[in-house]
Amino acid sequence: MTINIDLTAFQSSVIARLEATTTVSELEALRVELLGKKSLIQASLAQLGKLPQAERKQAGEQANRVKGIISAALDAASQRLANQAEAQLSGVDLSQPITIAHQVGHIHPTQAVLADVYDIFLRLGYAVVDGPEIETDWYNFEVLNMPADHPAREMQDTFYLQSNPGQAPLVPRTHTSAAQIRYMSQRQPPFKVIVPGKVYRNEDEDRTHLWSFYQVEGLVVGEDVSMADLKGTLLHVMQELFDESVKIRFRPSYFPYTEPSVEVDVWYRDEWLEICGAGMVHPDVLEKGGINPELYSGFAFGFGPDRLTVIRYGLSDIRMLWRPNLLTSRQV
Ligand code: DAH
Repeated sequence: MTINIDLTAFQSSVIARLEATTTVSELEALRVELLGKKSLIQASLAQLGKLPQAERKQAGEQANRVKGIISAALDAASQRLANQAEAQLSGVDLSQPITIAHQVGHIHPTQAVLADVYDIFLRLGYAVVDGPEIETDWYNFEVLNMPADHPAREMQDTFYLQSNPGQAPLVPRTHTSAAQIRYMSQRQPPFKVIVPGKVYRNEDEDRTHLWSFYQVEGLVVGEDVSMADLKGTLLHVMQELFDESVKIRFRPSYFPYTEPSVEVDVWYRDEWLEICGAGMVHPDVLEKGGINPELYSGFAFGFGPDRLTVIRYGLSDIRMLWRPNLLTSRQV
């Protein structure tokens, strides 16, 4: 028996039937029908030996070609069903063409703001420097006029780390101000630097607070550096980051390492949002940094880029920035 069929028509009818299958058991039934012991193809292969020598080769080739087509179509159908099952589990249809937009992420909004912050300060002639995230109690508190019993430590309670006996107590830094004395003791004025990085506090989170957030410290020391320079610099930076219409205010405040001290707020959603602590570097701090306060003065500030990000992107809650919610990240 030879299989005397129109291969093209056969192929399209098999493929159409296979494409219509929706379950694995339907597909298995078709596999048995098309390739099983009682299938047309097996029967014709079994008959090959009985054919006259002259016809055997051609008939064998044809039967194998048909078998190959059926096998390939079965495999394709089986793959399709497997993909569909997986897509149902993951919510992604793997049979859809890949669009690049779904694959490529984008820079985190706070990092985008930080990139602009670097750009603005670099144009003002500042250098960007680094400080350690795990700090000694000494640089984080002590040398900034906050000895162990100082009430200002209360505002910056943190997670204390176990240190080896005889070693300086360590803390995850509570503010980037910890880098101030480190930098001062390596340089003589004049200098202008910013120190960006993460800080950590024992903080109850809410709409405007995180327990771990970014800060950008600024430190400028030179001859005749004044409070007017500090105010002008911060106003300029905020205008560059937002626009000329940004509303900011300076409020008197207290920090043990500045005198006088201020806090800076930005007007956002009908209220003042605190974004920065600042002041004129305390003469004691300059001295501890090896700088003569008779010759030099300086200003310092520390602001929170996460809060600036909230303002820039119009968020209602700062916690949205660091929750693993793709919906937020895709929108900002
Ligand atoms: N370190 C302060 C804080 O985290 C912010 C700050 C205040 C930084 C005054 C300064 C400064 O450099 O001079 O709340």
